[in-house]
Amino acid sequence: MEPRKTKTRRRWRLRSRSSLIVATVLLQAVVIGLGWWGTMQLTRVGLASRVRERIVDENSRAVTHLAGVLSRDGVATDAGEAQRLVEHFQLPGHTALAVLDSRGRVKHHPHLKRQPGLEGADIGGTPVTLSPGNEVIMLRDLRPGTVLTGEAVLFGRRCVLSVRRAEGSGDKIIAYQSFEGVAQAEDRFVRGVMLWLGVAGIAVLGLTIFGSIVLVRYYDTALMRFNHTLNLEAEQRTKRAVAIRNALVFGLAKLADYRDTDTGKHLERICGYCELLSRELAGAHAEIDRAWIDRLKLASSMHDIGKVGIPDSILLKPGALTACERRLMETHATIGADTLIAIRDRVGDDDLLNMSIQVALSHHEKWNGTGYPSGLVGEQIPLCARIVALADMYDALTSKRVYKDAIGHAKAREIILASRGTHFDPAVVDAFERCEERFDIVRQAGQPETDAVELSFLQRTVEEIASERRHAA
Ligand SMILES: [Fe+2]
Ligand SMILES: [Fe+2]
Repeated sequence: MEPRKTKTRRRWRLRSRSSLIVATVLLQAVVIGLGWWGTMQLTRVGLASRVRERIVDENSRAVTHLAGVLSRDGVATDAGEAQRLVEHFQLPGHTALAVLDSRGRVKHHPHLKRQPGLEGADIGGTPVTLSPGNEVIMLRDLRPGTVLTGEAVLFGRRCVLSVRRAEGSGDKIIAYQSFEGVAQAEDRFVRGVMLWLGVAGIAVLGLTIFGSIVLVRYYDTALMRFNHTLNLEAEQRTKRAVAIRNALVFGLAKLADYRDTDTGKHLERICGYCELLSRELAGAHAEIDRAWIDRLKLASSMHDIGKVGIPDSILLKPGALTACERRLMETHATIGADTLIAIRDRVGDDDLLNMSIQVALSHHEKWNGTGYPSGLVGEQIPLCARIVALADMYDALTSKRVYKDAIGHAKAREIILASRGTHFDPAVVDAFERCEERFDIVRQAGQPETDAVELSFLQRTVEEIASERRHAA
């Protein structure tokens, strides 16, 4: 059966302040662009018809004005003056003027000189579609008392036109503009409006870009400040929580130590020895770093925590243990590990607890596999436990007990070197050899100045009670 392919969706994230600004600006540009395009689509037709209306209005005003001028006494009869007026009358765009007589023949036109056949041309039969109303009427039949507007084909081109009759002469003054001219005027106007709207859109976009940058920067900075404060607070709380945890762990180990024969500053010295060995081994083991060493220093204090579960008759026995007692004593490794595993089950996975479990369970394992409780061989034994094993042995050898004397550093060194590859990891022994002088310094600093035996609290109390009883007897 073919394995099912799982689709992994990659989420796009805004990872920086500049990408957030770019995204905001792009969004705004799209919105403004769509707004501009939509506005133009909606208003284009209206704008064009406004242009056409304006042209018709201007033409109407022009013919009214010209009709008034041509009706003045004397002017209407002066053909030359009338022609001059037609030629020089200023009208916007491509609007042209023409004067027809009452029968519809061309009397005056700006192109009269260039087109000789134009004068007298009879265009009276041209049908005109009036607007509003769409009534069709011949040009010659128009009798406009006011301005009439409409559409017609004049001089070979389809045009919009305005017509007014001059009082007195009855001439018809026509202002007309071709459809092409009207369309060009419409286009020019719409393009102008589009341009201005575009400029306004760009200005708005510029303002929004500026505003976005200012706002994004402001909120981003505020957010960063807030995050920084939160991080500091979280860091402080974490540090405090770790400190409390470490203190509790060490306290727990110390509590267990009250029942042990390993007394006095045994735990502190073990910490010191483990730190020395770890530093020496750091080059050869990538996992050993500052945090690892700190963990080991604390975890090493829990190596014998399981002795809490060993009966006093065995734990405090001054003489040699029987085989059965020894077996019971050896269970302290498992008891300690089980206790720590129970804690881990409650608090969840934790590096310190993991290492403490390894140390508690395996600190009596031997490199050659003759240790307990599992008989692990070589690198099957966790590195932390291999280090603690040597540190614990060195401290046991160099400390005085009720059942034995302390031996000196040199002798302890000899024993440890002799155990290279049998009891201890050769690499750990080599590390010890490199820093053995510092071991001796730590030992001297952590051991009592007197030659007295380091008794546990329990042992001291038992002895004091026995002494009191002796005195009483
Ligand atoms: Fe132990
Ligand atoms: Fe110990």
